Amino acid sequence: MLRAKISGTGMYVPERRVTNKDLERLMDTSDEWIRQRSGVVERRWVTASEKPADLAEKASRQALESAGLEPGEIDCIVLATLSAQAEFPGTSFFLQERLGGTTPCFDLRAQCSGFLYGLSVAKGFVASGQFRRVLLVGAEVHSTGLDVSTEGRDVTVLFGDGAGAVVVEANADADDLSDILAVRLHAEGRYATKLWTEAPGSAHWPVRMSQELLDRKAHFPRMEGRFVFKHAVSRMPEVLKEALEDAGVKRDDVALFLFHQANLRINEYVAGSLEIPTARVRNNIDRYGNCSAASIPILLAEAERDGALKRGDLVALTGFGSGFSWASAILRW
Ligand code: ACO
Repeated sequence: MLRAKISGTGMYVPERRVTNKDLERLMDTSDEWIRQRSGVVERRWVTASEKPADLAEKASRQALESAGLEPGEIDCIVLATLSAQAEFPGTSFFLQERLGGTTPCFDLRAQCSGFLYGLSVAKGFVASGQFRRVLLVGAEVHSTGLDVSTEGRDVTVLFGDGAGAVVVEANADADDLSDILAVRLHAEGRYATKLWTEAPGSAHWPVRMSQELLDRKAHFPRMEGRFVFKHAVSRMPEVLKEALEDAGVKRDDVALFLFHQANLRINEYVAGSLEIPTARVRNNIDRYGNCSAASIPILLAEAERDGALKRGDLVALTGFGSGFSWASAILRW
């Protein structure tokens, strides 16, 4: 079994800032409500010309550059998303077109846990020797799928657009301890409709989208917020402890904890319940909102850029999202 390490990180968010005050003009909400309940202050939303693959390309090129690689040196592209550019093919194909060549690529659908599921897949590819270098991307354009009326306010205020990317590659250097030590994955499909977007979908007959579906706003996400919150705060500490045990490391030895950015209160609760000092937790939900599969790789890229991550550090990544799906990974940076 070969070891796999993250050798490059990248991120991109659209230029357009949408503040809580901007949302006050669209729906019955307030800056105070949004900050207190979620920690979001502003988020980035795309403009008409920006597509998911554009965001993914910018994040990917940055990750490739930081790994010192050209696009042609990548053996496989895995792109995690819940907001695909088209019904098919996956966003990964539009990204691959932009990067050039005929590199195999596919999309992975595990919502806010998508990046961690992807990390597990990338680690497996590298460890088995099937691929030496995998480009793993999380890319979301949520804004075009949100109900910006008061009816959709509980969900809409939380989400932002963005992309994050990493290069996962084989590490054969005995002196380099960088490694993806453990990844734990879980899912509970019986709660699939507690947080979902129903349409368009092939479950609808005889067509996937209809006036009836549009009229009842089935194309917008629906969430039982409190139910999701309750599960997130119990599942995240649970899976984080499992991953630490799998990796054979102690919580106190972890230099940095990066949690999915669904809600600042969830993350504070998780850190509090495990007695993790706040200085070791990093959030960016105030600036970007919840970017689903892109949140964790964006955090990683920012942490690397500003020196919060040093080679040899232990890093813990943990997420929870629609599905329900939840996961945690322990890395030696
Ligand atoms: N602005 C103002 N008022 C609002 C808003 C808003 N944006 N949204 C809801 N309200 C109102 C509600 O209508 C309700 O009013 P009422 O008391 O008159 O009925 C009141 O605020 C309280 O609503 P709750 O839903 O009970 O508020 P809560 O404290 O639960 O916070 C929140 C809502 C922030 C959505 C929270 O439940 C949450 O974060 N849930 C988890 C989200 C999450 O983790 N998602 C998973 C990841 S996402 C993914 O995987 C795709």
